[in-house]
Amino acid sequence: MTTGVAVLGSTGSIGCSALQVLARQRERFRVVALTAHSNAGLLEQQAAEWRPEYVGIVNGGSTNGGTGDGGRGKGTACLVEAATRPDVAIVINGIVGAAGLEATLAALCAGKRVALANKESLVMAGELVTQAARQGGGEIVPVDSEHSAVLQCLAGRPPTDVASLTLTASGGPFRTWTPERVADATIEEALQHPTWRMGRKITVDSATLVNKALEVIEAHYLFGVDYEQVKVVVHPQSLVHAFVEFVDGSVLAQVGFPTMEVPILYALTHPERVRDHGTRRFDPVAAETLTFEPVRHELYPAYRLGRAAALARGTVPAAFNAANEVAVQRFLDGKIRFGQIAHIIDAVLTATQSGDAESLDGVLAADAEARRMAWEVACS
Ligand SMILES: NC(=O)c1ccc[n+]([C@@H]2O[C@H](COP(=O)([O-])OP(=O)(O)OC[C@H]3O[C@@H](n4cnc5c(N)ncnc54)[C@H](OP(=O)(O)O)[C@@H]3O)[C@@H](O)[C@H]2O)c1
Repeated sequence: MTTGVAVLGSTGSIGCSALQVLARQRERFRVVALTAHSNAGLLEQQAAEWRPEYVGIVNGGSTNGGTGDGGRGKGTACLVEAATRPDVAIVINGIVGAAGLEATLAALCAGKRVALANKESLVMAGELVTQAARQGGGEIVPVDSEHSAVLQCLAGRPPTDVASLTLTASGGPFRTWTPERVADATIEEALQHPTWRMGRKITVDSATLVNKALEVIEAHYLFGVDYEQVKVVVHPQSLVHAFVEFVDGSVLAQVGFPTMEVPILYALTHPERVRDHGTRRFDPVAAETLTFEPVRHELYPAYRLGRAAALARGTVPAAFNAANEVAVQRFLDGKIRFGQIAHIIDAVLTATQSGDAESLDGVLAADAEARRMAWEVACS
C-alpha cells in the first residue's frame, strides 16, 4: 500500500526536488496531486509522467492530459482542493510566499502531514497554523534544512530540554562585501547564491538574510522555544545545518552536503529513515574546513527588522513578510535598488500597528495592508 502525496508548487525548486525523491521511492509513495502557478508546460510534463488523480493550476493554462481520473482545478481554490483530497496523506507545500498559507491550514485541519517548505505559512500565522494542526490532527514536518536538522537532533526531546538552537546561514553572496557595495548589488549578483540552487525569492532572501529571520520565526513555532533561544551563525560552507544545545551543555549538530532532497525525504518518512542512494554521501575529508562567523549586522539590516518583527508578535511578522515579498518582487523587476529592500520593510513596519493574528481574516488584512504600504513606498 503506497502513501498518497500532493506536491504543491511542483514546478518550483522544492517541487522538482520532491519529485526526484519520490521517483526513487515509488514503492512507498504515489503522487496523487500536483499544482503550479503558471508554468503549464512543466506541469503537463509532470502530469504525463506521474498520472496524478488531480492537477491544479492557479493562473491560466489548460492542464490537459496526464491525470488518472480527469481531476482538474484552476484558480487559487485548486491549492486547497489538492491539499485536502481524501487520497492524500502527505502534502508537500513548496509554494513560495503568502500564497501557501491557506493550503497549509486546510491540510492540517484535514489531518494531513504537511511537509512544509513554505515557511511563510508559519511566519504569517504561526498561532493559527499550530492550532490547526492540534485541532485537525495534522502534523507539520519541516522541509527547511535547518529545521529538519533541529528536528533530527531533538529526536523527540521536549522544549524544556533545550538551552538554545543555532541555525546556520551561508551569509549569501555579499558576506565579504561592504554595506555601500551591497546597497547597489545587481539582480544577477543577488541571485548568485554561493552554496544552494533555489527559487529567485528565497535566493534574494538569503542575500538580505531575511530568510534567516523568517527561519527564526519558523523555529519558534515548530519547536516551542523562545526567540532569545534561537541563534544564528554564519557558516559559509553550508555543511552544518543547525546545532541544538541541551540544558546539560551537550550540543548535537546535523551535517550534510547542501541538497534539499535529504530533508524532503526525511519530512516524508519522519520519524522513520528509509534507504536512499540518490544524493551525495557526506565525507568529512571532502568537506574540508568548516568555519563559523557572527552575523555582520551592518550588512543585513533587514535581518534585524525581521527579528524585531518576531518580538512584536501579533500581525507584525505577517506585515514583515508581506513588505519583504513586495520589495523583493520590485527588486527582481528591476524597479528598486537592492538596498531599498530593507528601507521598504522598515517604512512599512514603522507605520504598522500590530493586530489580531488569531483569525485568518486578521492575518490576511495585515498582509494586504502591508503590501499596499510597501507598494506605495516602493513606487514613491
Ligand atoms: N528552494 C529551496 O531550496 C528551498 C529551501 C528551503 C525552503 N524553501 C522554501 O520553499 C518554498 C518554495 O521555494 P522554491 O525555491 O521552490 O520557489 P520557486 O522555485 O520559485 O517555486 C515556487 C513554486 O510555487 C508556485 N507558485 C508561485 N506563486 C504561486 C501562487 N501565487 N500560488 C500557487 N503557487 C505558486 C510556482 O509555480 P510556477 O512555477 O508555475 O510559477 C512554483 O511551483 C519557499 O517558501 C522557500 O522559502 C525553498
